[in-house]
Amino acid sequence: MQSELRKKLLDAFTNAGEAFLSGQYLAELIGCSRTAVWKHIEELRKEGFELEAVRNKGYRIIKTPESITADEIRLGLTTNIIGSNIYYEESVESTQKIAHHLSSENVPEGTVIIAEEQRSGKGRMNRTWYSPKYTGIWMSLILRPNIPLNNAPQLTLLTAVAIVQAIEEETGLQTEIKWPNDILLNGKKVTGILTELQAEADRIHSIIIGIGINVNQKMDDFPSELQDKASSLSIEKGEDISRSGLIRCIFKNFERLYLLYLEQGFFPIKLLWEGYAISLGKNLKARTLTNVIEGKALGITDEGVLKLEDETGFVHHIYSADIEV
Ligand code: BTN
Repeated sequence: MQSELRKKLLDAFTNAGEAFLSGQYLAELIGCSRTAVWKHIEELRKEGFELEAVRNKGYRIIKTPESITADEIRLGLTTNIIGSNIYYEESVESTQKIAHHLSSENVPEGTVIIAEEQRSGKGRMNRTWYSPKYTGIWMSLILRPNIPLNNAPQLTLLTAVAIVQAIEEETGLQTEIKWPNDILLNGKKVTGILTELQAEADRIHSIIIGIGINVNQKMDDFPSELQDKASSLSIEKGEDISRSGLIRCIFKNFERLYLLYLEQGFFPIKLLWEGYAISLGKNLKARTLTNVIEGKALGITDEGVLKLEDETGFVHHIYSADIEV
C-alpha cells in the first residue's frame, strides 16, 4: 500500500512538470492526510530527491537523484506488469536468493529485486558475478508464465533481446548476443543473464531471471583477470549512463516482448534474437559442465536450444555451455 501511495505521488509530480502541487491537493489525490504527504516528501528527500517547498504554492521536484531506488525507477515508468512491485536493497548477497524466497511467498508476476551491490553475485555455471556498489544494474525478475517446462530457455533469449534493444534506445550503443545470453560490446561482455526455475515435474511455479549489466565501471574497477574479457557501457560510450533510465527502458521492452510472446509464441522473438546473434553459422567450441563439443552453429531450435553440427555431421543440442567463437 505504501508503495502505491508513493507511486501516485511521484506520478503527480511527473505530470505536473515544473508546476507546484499543494499539500492539500496531494493529500486529496492520494487519499491521505497532509501530515502523511509531508512524511512521504521527507522520505523522498532522504533518498536524494531535491524538492522545493514554497509557502502557499506547495512542492515541486527540482532534481531527481541518479539512484535506482524503487521510487526513482517508478518515476515515469510506463509498464503494468514488469516492475509493478519493486524491492530495492543497498547491499545483498545475491538478488537471485531474495527472488527465490519472495517467489515462494507468492509475490505477483513482474516483481523485481534490485540491489546497489551484491556481496556474492551468482553467475552461470557456478561462477561468481562481480557486482560492485553503485556502478551496475544487478536485478532479478520474477515471472509466472503458463508455459511448458521445456520452453523456459526461450525467456532467457527474450531477455537478451529486451536488453539489447534498451541499451541501443538509451545509449545508442549497438551490442550483440553470444548464445545463449551474453551481451557483448566491441567483443567484450557487458551483460550476463542467469535464468533459474522453481518448478514441479510438469509445472513452472516461477522463472527467476537474473540480469547483471556493467554500466558505469571504469576499467580499473574490474579485477585484472576480467579486464580483457569484460567492459562497461560507459567505458565504450565515453560518458556515464543513467542506470534508472536504462532499467525503465528494459522493463518497457521486456513487457512489450513478453506480451508478444504470450500471445504469438516464440517465433517473433526468435527472429529478433537471430538478428542480434553473432554465433550463428560460425564454427564454435561449446564447453558444457562435462564436455567440449566443436562444430558449426546451425541455429537455435524452437525451444531456444543451440544446434551444433560436429565434423561427423551429428547435430548436438546444447542446453547450457560456454561458447568460444
Ligand atoms: C552470467 O554468468 O553470465 C550470468 C550473470 C548473472 C548476474 C546477475 S546480477 C543479478 C542476479 N543476481 C545474481 O546473483 N546473479 C544475477
